[in-house]
Amino acid sequence: MIGKIHKQMSHDSWLFSKMATPEYTPFVFLLLLFQSSVWGFPVCQTPQESPTCGYKPGMLNVHLVPHTHDDVGWLKTVDQYFYGDRNDIQHAGVQYILDSVVDQLLKNPDRRFIYVETAFFYRWWKQQTDDMQNTVKQLVNEGRLEFVNGGWCMSDEATTHYSAVIDQMTMGLRFLNDTFGHCGRPRVAWHIDPFGHAREHASMFAQMGYDGFFFGRLDYQDRNRRMVAREQEMLWRASESLTPPMADLFTGILPNGYNPPEGFCWDQSCDDPPIRDDPDLEDYNVDDVVTRFLHIAHGQALVYKTNHIIMTMGSDFQYENANLWYKNLDKLIRYVNQMQSNGSEVNVLYSTPSCYLQELHRANLTWPLKGDDFFPYADSAHDFWTGYFTSRPALKRYERISNSYLQTCKQLEVLGGPISRKGPFGAGDSETLKKAMAVAQHHDAVSGTEKQHVANDYARKLANGWAHCQVLVSNTLSSLSGSSAPRVYCEHLNISVCPLTETSKKFSVNVYNPLARPVSWPVRLPVNGTNFYWSVLLTLSLPFSLSLSISLYPSLSLSISLYPSLSLSISLYPSLSLSITPSYSLYPSIIISPSQSFSPQPSSLLSLCASIVTLRDFLSSLFCVCLSRYNASDGNNSESIQMSGAYIFRPNTSTPFIISKTAKIETLQEVRQWFSPWVSQVVRLYTDSRALELEWTVGPVPIGDDLGKEVISRLDSSINSSGVFYTDSNGREVLQRRKDYRPTWNLRQSEPIAGNYYPINSRAYIKDDKDQLTVVTDRSQGGGSIQDGSLEIMLHRRLLYDDVRGVGEPLNETSDIYPEGLVVRGRHLLSLSPPATAADTHRPLAQEVVLQPLITFTDGELHPSTRLEFSGLQAVLPPAVHLLTVSQWDQDTVLLRLEHQYQASESKEHSQPVTVNLQKLFSTLDVLGVSEMNLSANQWKDEMTRLDWKAESGTHHTGVTNQLSAYSAL
Ligand SMILES: *[C@@H]1O[C@H](CO)[C@@H](O)[C@H](O)[C@H]1NC(C)=O
Ligand SMILES: *[C@@H]1O[C@H](CO)[C@@H](O)[C@H](O)[C@H]1NC(C)=O
Ligand SMILES: *[C@@H]1O[C@H](CO)[C@@H](O)[C@H](O)[C@H]1NC(C)=O
Ligand SMILES: [Zn+2]
Repeated sequence: MIGKIHKQMSHDSWLFSKMATPEYTPFVFLLLLFQSSVWGFPVCQTPQESPTCGYKPGMLNVHLVPHTHDDVGWLKTVDQYFYGDRNDIQHAGVQYILDSVVDQLLKNPDRRFIYVETAFFYRWWKQQTDDMQNTVKQLVNEGRLEFVNGGWCMSDEATTHYSAVIDQMTMGLRFLNDTFGHCGRPRVAWHIDPFGHAREHASMFAQMGYDGFFFGRLDYQDRNRRMVAREQEMLWRASESLTPPMADLFTGILPNGYNPPEGFCWDQSCDDPPIRDDPDLEDYNVDDVVTRFLHIAHGQALVYKTNHIIMTMGSDFQYENANLWYKNLDKLIRYVNQMQSNGSEVNVLYSTPSCYLQELHRANLTWPLKGDDFFPYADSAHDFWTGYFTSRPALKRYERISNSYLQTCKQLEVLGGPISRKGPFGAGDSETLKKAMAVAQHHDAVSGTEKQHVANDYARKLANGWAHCQVLVSNTLSSLSGSSAPRVYCEHLNISVCPLTETSKKFSVNVYNPLARPVSWPVRLPVNGTNFYWSVLLTLSLPFSLSLSISLYPSLSLSISLYPSLSLSISLYPSLSLSITPSYSLYPSIIISPSQSFSPQPSSLLSLCASIVTLRDFLSSLFCVCLSRYNASDGNNSESIQMSGAYIFRPNTSTPFIISKTAKIETLQEVRQWFSPWVSQVVRLYTDSRALELEWTVGPVPIGDDLGKEVISRLDSSINSSGVFYTDSNGREVLQRRKDYRPTWNLRQSEPIAGNYYPINSRAYIKDDKDQLTVVTDRSQGGGSIQDGSLEIMLHRRLLYDDVRGVGEPLNETSDIYPEGLVVRGRHLLSLSPPATAADTHRPLAQEVVLQPLITFTDGELHPSTRLEFSGLQAVLPPAVHLLTVSQWDQDTVLLRLEHQYQASESKEHSQPVTVNLQKLFSTLDVLGVSEMNLSANQWKDEMTRLDWKAESGTHHTGVTNQLSAYSAL
């Protein structure tokens, strides 16, 4: 069977049926799970089936959307929110919300409600009786309870990686489809709270089959302009590579964030007056309420295009006592509509986003086209929400590496079969880590905008997920290698801690590469020498020639470069047993295998170092690689009292504070730069490497001077970048940025630094005609190009004030191990290439940082019968194709996602359509059938029909038109 990857940057999901026999011996039996379409679906009054949703033609129709916004962790943990625990922190209990809403929906068939976060709904559902479940199914089938968005959470858009977002959406949407079938499939994406919006999210939502997207937050200048121009509803063309309308998404900006209009909040948490409608009583207020409501409705109609407007009747954790809301909404609808007999042309109705969207579609208008994204987000002149791009850098890294681990775990679950879940090491599962990762995508999780105890809870959940996956991984490795020697996972290699390698005289290293192509990956292992650690550099070429060369230098680490030439492969190296004794002299060089590939003598070492020190050998145009910092605004400022905090970045000056003009430099086989005792960097150049590694270590950030600090890494070069730089969107397509400029409106810049920061999820670059300097990051960070030729990336922030956006805590991270303040370490990989071929380097490099080899250890000698190599793939995939997902779907099927990872026209060589033979993909799975699905795997591809929207011609803004014609030419 041939699966053609049609387009650049497209990704599709396939379900594979495979055999269920434990050993995967090649019998064939057919499993036809895939009878698509033409079944009689139950009637659910989603738009396609319910043509009116209750609106009145010719009138101004006001769609009231009762909703609750339930953060999957923020001030309280996700579990505290579910149960309503710790109401002293914030009064919020999601279980009561769902209890109460269902009860109230049953009291009046007109009432509707939408629910968004499947992480909560799933918890609630599990605890309901059969009767209650059936009741709820009926409400869903009748369209009275509608799921919108429907992912496990409402993900953050600035700091998430697309692979983890797709996973969390898939998990939530799968639960909804499994539980409610067709009627449970959300038609509308709903990101009412995230602090800025990524184009890649819109692209993913389009490919997941959503008909439209609504959100609440955008730059205040952008909003003002759009209100005047009636451009709050638009068509977002979210990919430069996919042929329209594949990544087109209708996008609407909600009128009041996600809150009800002022004066109309009837939750128990609000103070607005209820509707007092007994005319015999003193404070009858129906006339007043109706007048105010009509005034607001007419005002709102002026800034939207159609005679349908939407109002979000709810807010954070509302509807715990839903009677209050519904009782008043019933009355509002009754009294406002009664005015129609007096000539009022306003019709109010209970509605849902999909009903509203349906009416917009019916209006048959053309909509303005949007080509860029909604970053950065500012809610006023000095309030740029660009701090959270970097907030909690350690959590951001842990989330990213957990994604790598989860993908590996899922692959090994498929490759190992049932024995992976129940094998020699006990019961393992990938489910726990899947859920922990899904929760971590929430817009107050990986974003770093939660309270400290909640951040700790996310990390604890991830660690628990790792533990479950470790059992699974051990089971599979044991089964595939035939050795059940206990496996050791050194999770603290980033801080040079691995008790096994530090104490063992003989150990073996086991490497699993989750990418579908060979990689070369440096690893440093701590090894105990005499009184200090030793550094070992290994070069391994696989699979047919095992060649090792090991050299020891006095340094803090051991580094291994791995070159498994087969992908998805497990390689075991029995000869990698280091017998390190205290007898080695200072610059020993031990050649373990005959290979002479790289065995530097002290002299060659020095020349390598020299080349790093000058850097110009490698990056000829790079002037300065230095770490500096901003002092945070403490709010004591004539222009604005805004402080820097978890969300907001606001330095107190627009030039960075140079920590030290000259770094103290120490040169071993690497260059160490000490800018101050708490800011340092190691620069390394590996042989054959395409990139220079900068390993930064920052912390504990001193606060003795009562100043918060935001540390940046600045790379100054002679590249003539003319105010233009590039950042990726959720790790996927790259967007062009220009200093002090927004493509869709005339920016009045009010914060020269913070207003020029953008999210960097995996890479950023500057370029001119000759050179492109690309930085690949190991986590999401904020950054910008403030001076021509310069790229700066924020590494760590420690702040002493809360920025008044609700979290109520200063971002001042400490821990038991670091009571003086968190120390954070990370890596940037720098490459310099001609612009025309730069993508050929940074695409795979970024992918390698996202999906890292899994390294495990076993102590002592390996049993001679141990199988040393295994490859899950029959062949290496073409360079353009990324194996995004291999995951057990159910007993006989596997979910596969292949992705074309190059953007249109960014690579002469790789930006071309590619064909992959699915039949011959895996070495242990027989493909019996393939069904193509949408990106989130909750709809068969051939059932996918999306609403079509017309874009206004001539509304293309600067830059977009050219690019678009370039894509369609491809
Ligand atoms: C939509 O508008 C176009 C003109 O812009 C018209 O040709 C078409 O018939 C309209 N469709 C409907 C369903 O009204
Ligand atoms: C490292 O080696 C020294 C000398 O052999 C020994 O005293 C020390 O305990 C070792 N450290 C660890 C962590 O094993
Ligand atoms: C969704 O659920 C329905 C009903 O259980 C099932 O028939 C259908 O195959 C599911 N769709 C997908 C894409 O899994
Ligand atoms: Zn929120």
